[in-house]
Amino acid sequence: MSSTLHKCTNATFTPTRTTIHFSITDKVGALDECLAAIKAMNISLTRIESRPSRTSEWDYDFFVDFDATGAEQVAEVSKSLENLAKQVHTVGTGGELSESTPWFPRKMVDLDTFADKVLEMGEELEADHPGAKDAAYRARRSEITKIAKIYRTGQPIPHVEYTQIEIDTWSTVFNKLITMFPTHACREHQYVFPLLIQNCGYGPSNIPQLDAVSKFLKDCTGFTLRPVMGLLTSRDFLNGLAFRAFHSTQYIRHYSKPLYTPEPDVCHELLGHVPLFANPDFADFSQEIGLASLGASDSDIEQLATIYWFTVEFGICRQGDQLRAYGAGLLSSYGELEYCLSGKPEIRPFEPAKVAKQKYPITEYQPVYFVAESFKDAQMKVREFASSLKRPFSVRYNAYTESIEILDSKDRVLRYAQSIKSDMLTLVDALEKLA
Ligand SMILES: [Fe+2]
Repeated sequence: MSSTLHKCTNATFTPTRTTIHFSITDKVGALDECLAAIKAMNISLTRIESRPSRTSEWDYDFFVDFDATGAEQVAEVSKSLENLAKQVHTVGTGGELSESTPWFPRKMVDLDTFADKVLEMGEELEADHPGAKDAAYRARRSEITKIAKIYRTGQPIPHVEYTQIEIDTWSTVFNKLITMFPTHACREHQYVFPLLIQNCGYGPSNIPQLDAVSKFLKDCTGFTLRPVMGLLTSRDFLNGLAFRAFHSTQYIRHYSKPLYTPEPDVCHELLGHVPLFANPDFADFSQEIGLASLGASDSDIEQLATIYWFTVEFGICRQGDQLRAYGAGLLSSYGELEYCLSGKPEIRPFEPAKVAKQKYPITEYQPVYFVAESFKDAQMKVREFASSLKRPFSVRYNAYTESIEILDSKDRVLRYAQSIKSDMLTLVDALEKLA
């Protein structure tokens, strides 16, 4: 049986998506004129967002995104708007960031653009997929992936009425894995699993709904699930983690091979990934990889995706004098879960700079696993590794606005420092009261 996971890809992806901001006074037709000017240049907008201006009571701010062919085109668009709008400036990749910085999502709604950018295993199936020649399976799968195609941020995730055949497949996987969890899963997984049974409908005869699981995770750590049609690029997938958003499949593997799948499916997501995302330290660790991926170069994305692979997918941790699995590729694979702790494979300490260079097979058991001393320790090590990457700016996630702030100006850094100061005062107050 092969490993099942969110595999990393070597596909290069160098988008040049650009955001231009402009303000217009609230008068009929003003926006239409601006959009017509952009359209006249044969440019298709990928997003239009508006909000009341912060500087003038009667103005509105607009943010428009498009895939620019280069700096010249960005300049032309800005120029075409200058006579029609106020305060025209580029805020995306052509503005305060270098032109060579790949586009990255700034707000949670930006993740909506990832929905149908799947690499493979979306509506088509590889020839060696157990369901490739089953027309009914492919049609069913297509029916379920439509949910992901039209899903938008903020919406509840539509329920799937799973068939008895699908529930039987889930049941086989569930019943097999729960015999292994007490001896092989890390204590964080074991702590959360009963809570998922109590709160989210986990059990041998029911496939939990992503929406209920997402709400549970939101309450625990702020993580949420988003339905996805298939495999995303490593860049898009990791970028989502920066927002504490996990892209999850909703369909299930083919019934003919319940203990095998060449791709992530709902068993892998719900039994492998979800329990760990309910743990605060693991959530912080995962987000750390996501934040490091924003605007990273293609080669750095490849390194971060490799670290993700050997941790979130195939990680092992030390707990007392024992080794336990915390990677979802292990926790959702009966065979590899047993193998990874059998003493046969090589075990090495988790050192991100070395892990990032490690080659790995995708369709076989891993020949080497890396051991984290704790999720906090791993998070600190990944943060240290991320600071060694070439990215010339720092980012932080603002949970209030669900957006990424680029810390590249005195005002922004000062505002960040003030929020830390406020937290410190609360901390001192709490410590005094405890004393
Ligand atoms: Fe995965």
